[in-house]
Amino acid sequence: MSIRRLGTLLVIMAVAAAPIPGHAAAFPYQDPSLPVATRVADLLSRMSLDEKLGQMTQAERGSVTAGDITTYRLGSILSGGGSAPSPNNATSWANMYDSFQQAALGTPLGIPMIYGVDAVHGHSNVYGATIFPHNIGLGATRDPALVQQIGQAVAEEVSGTGIDWNFAPCLCVARDDRWGRTYESFGEVPEIAGSMTTFINGLQGTTLNGPASVLATAKHYLGDGGTTAGDDQGNTQLTEAQLRAIHLPPFQAAVNRGAGSVMISYSSWNGQKVHGDRYLITDVLKGELGFAGFVVSDWAGVKQLPEATYADQVARAVNAGIDMIMVPDNYAATINAIVSGVTGGRIPQARIDDAVTRILNAKFALDLFNHPYTDRSYTGQVGSAAHRAVAREAVRKSLVLLKNDGGALPLPRTGPYSIVIGGKSADDLGNQSGGWSISWQGASGTRTTGSTFWQGLQRATAGTGITVQNVGTRTKGRYRADVGIWIGGETPYAEGRGDSSTLAFGSDNAAQLGDICSRVTTCIAILYSGRPLIIGDQLPKADAFVAGWLPGTEGDGVTDVLFGAGFSGKLPVSWPRAVTDEPINSGDGKTPLFPLGYGITPY
Ligand code: BGC
Ligand code: BGC
Repeated sequence: MSIRRLGTLLVIMAVAAAPIPGHAAAFPYQDPSLPVATRVADLLSRMSLDEKLGQMTQAERGSVTAGDITTYRLGSILSGGGSAPSPNNATSWANMYDSFQQAALGTPLGIPMIYGVDAVHGHSNVYGATIFPHNIGLGATRDPALVQQIGQAVAEEVSGTGIDWNFAPCLCVARDDRWGRTYESFGEVPEIAGSMTTFINGLQGTTLNGPASVLATAKHYLGDGGTTAGDDQGNTQLTEAQLRAIHLPPFQAAVNRGAGSVMISYSSWNGQKVHGDRYLITDVLKGELGFAGFVVSDWAGVKQLPEATYADQVARAVNAGIDMIMVPDNYAATINAIVSGVTGGRIPQARIDDAVTRILNAKFALDLFNHPYTDRSYTGQVGSAAHRAVAREAVRKSLVLLKNDGGALPLPRTGPYSIVIGGKSADDLGNQSGGWSISWQGASGTRTTGSTFWQGLQRATAGTGITVQNVGTRTKGRYRADVGIWIGGETPYAEGRGDSSTLAFGSDNAAQLGDICSRVTTCIAILYSGRPLIIGDQLPKADAFVAGWLPGTEGDGVTDVLFGAGFSGKLPVSWPRAVTDEPINSGDGKTPLFPLGYGITPY
């Protein structure tokens, strides 16, 4: 038989290997009754080098066609921040997922792809999904059981769109509030992030092959929150002992909870990019911490390595211990780069086999071989009333009361009395949600479904004899009221663009807060921000001052607390008096405006 005909025959045999429902598996790897290790070893023995390298390559949905998934044997797809199918709704996400999956299953060995997304505070790229408070607010709750419940709700929404893998939780320990990703951190000390790794249990469920189990990602390993001056993707200058004491413990906790994947940080440790750090990735994470899952690079992070060519960068990253490369667009070049590393002898075959084994382990554990397509029974869960109720509870528990002179709060539940509200975030779902909400950086305005503070207030006061008025940002008008409520703060941002050298409250916020408070008897300030801002000059204007963080789509949680549901939130960070206090953290001898753990609980 000619080589060519032999090749054709092998392809036909391989295609025929795809399991036929109700029939016995053709190969051991297709037999669900065998142990995962046996199935992985069998599958690995049947894979060509190209098939293995495809498994190690992750492409962005917008730069890949279904045909390329089949051609290049791509093992994984992701949605970058804001990258969504059109129309953006849960059903079209599920349809998109299924069509990519069909392309993956159309390869000779029929290996399913795994799809990853940043559901970092809810499945927030999907229109209509529940958006929970960002991690800084969840840190303020100090409630790991609630955070586990949130993880489960997120997993149900993610599963309803087919998706298998979440790039969350961020276990970053934010040490400098100037960092634009501070809101992705649960707090400034490792104990808070460590305790919130319950999110992983919520996402992954008791077993990964459960119907709504989603693979978790502990990110970004290691030291992302410790960079000098809070520079995003910056340089973390710490001794090894300090790095281990502050930034490592949450990852140990995540490994102990069985987190399926770890994402590498863009940042450097003492000048060396973590993406190329074999000691931290292979020796510490996989060796010492005993991490048995797979390691994914961050978005084009491999290209930031100092090596001269892409082939050199890829070889460095894979040898450091990265198992899957988030490319995101030039996947053919990435595969070629790994091929040249292997054929040129720079990347050992054993390293490739280890990487692929780790990835396949996750795919078998998730039972993707037997359940490759979307479980549509969860599609209706996206944005469900039950999940919104969990989010509303999280909002209630995340609010931190910084000041409450004269018992300004709680407000009486019934009138007669008048309330006027204003400020740029009083009726703005986008400002309430922050970055990573429908789009990567987020945006002001109504981009999805949910309740603003103003909508919640109208509901809470209907039929109570309390009159309400919203002056928005036109706070200079001729109104008067018994109670004034200002809601403002930061407008949305995400990584990079969110870094701030001032932590300024903003002159617009200052003027609007001053206007409202000068026209009312009792004044309440509610700050929506991803981190502490400099508020020393603002505090005297209001009787009560609330740190509301970035609560998400359930604004009713804020009104619940104003009208009597108790305050319980505690600061997850030290609140600086001036930006020159930064970095300021518990135990460093500096005197904050409010210390870590502060939060008044008058009712
Ligand atoms: C993507 C994000 C990604 C970022 C990296 C954006 O275009 O949407 O998901 O994190 O690029 O720079
Ligand atoms: C971010 C990650 C994110 C990835 C994919 C990167 O820019 O740093 O946190 O998971 O993009 O969107």
